Amino acid sequence: MSDVVNEQREPSESEGAGLGAVGVIGAGAMGSGIAQVAATAGHAVFLVDAFEGAAEKARDRIAAGLAKRASQGKLDPAEADAISARITPVAAAADLPGCLVVIEAIAEDLDAKVALFEDLGRRQPAATMLATNTSSLSIDDIAPAAPHPGRVLGLHFFNPPPAMKLVEVVQGQQTSGDVMTAATALMTAWGKTPVRCASTPGFIVNRVARPFYGEAQRLVEEGVADPATVDAAIRSAGFAMGPLELTDLIGQDVNFAVGKSVWQQTGQDPRYTPTTFQENLVTSGNLGRKTGKGVYTYAADGTMTDAEPDEARMAQLLAGPVVTNPVARTVAMLVNEAVDLVHRGEAGPDDVDLAMVLGTRYPKGPIAWGREIGFRTIRDQLLELDATFPGGRYRPSEALTEMD
Ligand code: NAI
Repeated sequence: MSDVVNEQREPSESEGAGLGAVGVIGAGAMGSGIAQVAATAGHAVFLVDAFEGAAEKARDRIAAGLAKRASQGKLDPAEADAISARITPVAAAADLPGCLVVIEAIAEDLDAKVALFEDLGRRQPAATMLATNTSSLSIDDIAPAAPHPGRVLGLHFFNPPPAMKLVEVVQGQQTSGDVMTAATALMTAWGKTPVRCASTPGFIVNRVARPFYGEAQRLVEEGVADPATVDAAIRSAGFAMGPLELTDLIGQDVNFAVGKSVWQQTGQDPRYTPTTFQENLVTSGNLGRKTGKGVYTYAADGTMTDAEPDEARMAQLLAGPVVTNPVARTVAMLVNEAVDLVHRGEAGPDDVDLAMVLGTRYPKGPIAWGREIGFRTIRDQLLELDATFPGGRYRPSEALTEMD
């Protein structure tokens, strides 16, 4: 722990002080990735973790990863050293110098985040941007804790931050326009592709993507096809992975928690009602690849042992009506979510499409896809679904009528 900075000090020019120091709180999967991104962009980065030794370990892991890239000829060795040298582990948030921005990536716990923002807000200069990397909490529940809530925003990076281009720049009700402009420019300077959105449950990506998982789970629940056939049908439309295999990769528990959080935050909107199918997977401990069994079963080497699609059934479904057509049903719901988000004024159409293509690797942005299919057709498909499954899940967005 000899290299832990215990006294508040300003970074030197060689440490990247010219660009402004960056504080990162939480040195886990996301915080360490964000620290690497900021240091690569030339900032002096100060990394904090509540768990003793974790920030040093994270810095060492980053340095080892950069050294490996240098040994593979993917990065100049001197640059690799310079990036690592710009990251300084510090013992606590109280030891951070005055920063341009402090990005919080601690556990997803509202009380812990509120306590941290209250503390940071008192310690950091009034001009410092205070960002949270939360994926499911509202900026409006965190910002009021800080003395300058106008400086608080969301910077939602995707995992792993060094590789994923997308950053959702999230505006709480009190976040100032200047902060949004500065943070968006900063993300561009860090080589990221920022999209802007309001602090709506799930932001853009985790909101619009809900039906991608939900429709596949429902099709299996309804007995329309087995998981492998549903996944293969979705892949046939250009998606890199089927929804069911993807939830096995993400972890059924993690995916279920995100869906449940969006459902609760929207006042239990039937559009997001979690499925019994997924709840059963979670309660039975079939969490996906990490437990060797989820929707599918995995051998020790990771291969799926029960993922054989029924090609004839798939062809029949894809040529059939929307209610049993995995692609038409999923795409109609994705388009509905996307246009509704835009209609509520929570994000612009281009940002929604960019976010979905970069954040989820969908083959097309849902707004562009809707335009291609025709918003009237999407609306008709949803009305057909709504007639078959009444209750509000398939209610078409008003925007579908307006956009035609
Ligand atoms: P993690 O569990 O890997 O890391 C969290 C770190 O924060 C741990 O090292 C822990 O010791 C530390 N910590 C906890 N409380 C602290 C405190 N009060 N002060 C300082 N350090 C503290 O978690 P992960 O996955 O990196 O997630 C962090 C945040 O990023 C969460 O809000 C999560 O929702 C969000 N997020 C996660 C993504 C993911 O794919 N893992 C993607 C996007 C956002």
